[in-house]
Amino acid sequence: MSEKFQNYINGEWVDAVSGETFENRNPANWDEVVGIFPSSDERDVARAAAAAKEAKEKWAELTVTERAKILGKAGDIMVEKKEEISRLMTREMGKILKETMGDTQEGIDTAFYAYGEARRLYGITTPSELNDKITYTTVKPIGVAGLITPWNFPMAIPCWKSFPALLVGNSVVFKPASDTPATATMLVRIFEEAGMPRGVVNLVHGTGGKVGEAIIKHPDIGVISFTGSSAVGSRIAEVAGKSLKRVSLELGGKNPEIVMDDADLELALEGVLWGAFGTTGQRCTATSRLILHEPIYNKFIEMLRERTKQLRLGNGLDESTDVGPVINEAQMTKIMNYIEIGKNEGAKLILGGKRYVKGECRKGWFIEPTIFIDVNPQMRIAQEEIFGPVLSVLKAKDLDEAVKIANNVVYGLSSSIYTTNLRNAMKAVEKLEAGITYVNAPTIGAECHLPFGGVKNTGNGHREGGRWAYEIFSEIKTVYIDYSGKLQKAQIDVDTNK
Ligand code: UN1
Repeated sequence: MSEKFQNYINGEWVDAVSGETFENRNPANWDEVVGIFPSSDERDVARAAAAAKEAKEKWAELTVTERAKILGKAGDIMVEKKEEISRLMTREMGKILKETMGDTQEGIDTAFYAYGEARRLYGITTPSELNDKITYTTVKPIGVAGLITPWNFPMAIPCWKSFPALLVGNSVVFKPASDTPATATMLVRIFEEAGMPRGVVNLVHGTGGKVGEAIIKHPDIGVISFTGSSAVGSRIAEVAGKSLKRVSLELGGKNPEIVMDDADLELALEGVLWGAFGTTGQRCTATSRLILHEPIYNKFIEMLRERTKQLRLGNGLDESTDVGPVINEAQMTKIMNYIEIGKNEGAKLILGGKRYVKGECRKGWFIEPTIFIDVNPQMRIAQEEIFGPVLSVLKAKDLDEAVKIANNVVYGLSSSIYTTNLRNAMKAVEKLEAGITYVNAPTIGAECHLPFGGVKNTGNGHREGGRWAYEIFSEIKTVYIDYSGKLQKAQIDVDTNK
């Protein structure tokens, strides 16, 4: 019998109003059902939003340190359960245990960051232009936050969003990806165990089309934080724009790694293997383009092919596995389609390109790590986000051309350059159009206290991580206190031109 999971609304575990359910299966072995989950719709969202609205006042009236105490407790419980959470995450999502442990750790780091942030939700104070007047800013919650999260980081990303939202004093309606509802449930159970008051955190399982859509349209939800594709992000901004909701979007990437001829090539190779094939390429920060400096083009490709061949595919719970499955059949079909597109466009396939069906893997969604070389910057496999283990290799005659190729996409999340020449490194940092640039490190590896986000179609200007995440969920109040005992008029009493 598979475990039956429920929504969490107003402090109670409940089925969907419709009574309908969906199955969540292990992508490494589709015979294994991880759990049965409620298939919710706008009626469940309405209940969750009503509970969140009701709970938000009392939650916001607690002191920030009282809220932080509960969030810190949640962090403590996550530490205790780190391995349990991570094993469950590997079963429902596929990435290898080392990576799911990292994902959980990123959640824990975010929890303790929030605990500390309680003591520095800084505003500003500045002299007034008038005497006997104090001016400062303070931070207020927006109200109810709608959090819509993807399946590739089932713990880290929900934590990036929920901890800041809650610390500031918002209540939450949380819709996790329907491919990773069990890890999300684990997080909500942890909040419950940590003593979260009723109605402050609400969990609604289901599809983007039904649950996500109802969240973005709900009039009582004042801010939406979404991580996912640019197509869905743009749709959310459009709908939410009508009701002037705040929206924070963390969207696609087509992240380049540039390798110059003066680079430590072994190091650059480690970087691209991890960047392109870690998480089976399913990160918004994945290295999906490798831009090689002409003098090392052939040599590096040989090194890359040799090492990529050695990567072992398999179940992520098996310690010898390097690369797990992709998330589901639809993603597999999409990735296989891109491989066909690459071949038809005339790129040269030098490794992989097929489903992997050996042994136990025949029951899962496995794709061989795939490398295309001689890719032209205009090809679709050089332009579009594939979100799978497919690497496009391009050639550049010098740094200027490498940067030009790197910037020639609609996305701008992460980027990387390998070089031992300081001038090359600094030029790249200056010129790469991306929210994140790594020097001598792969395109992945964000730390929770630094801003995370991108330029161009990767987002809409917000940053998660660190104190920047708190801005998403905060309203700023500007306060003027006049203790002069008389009417003072800014701009009128003070003419600074004279
Ligand atoms: C994502 O791909 O959606 O830097 C987030 C990284 C991770 C976070 C990635 N720490 O790759």
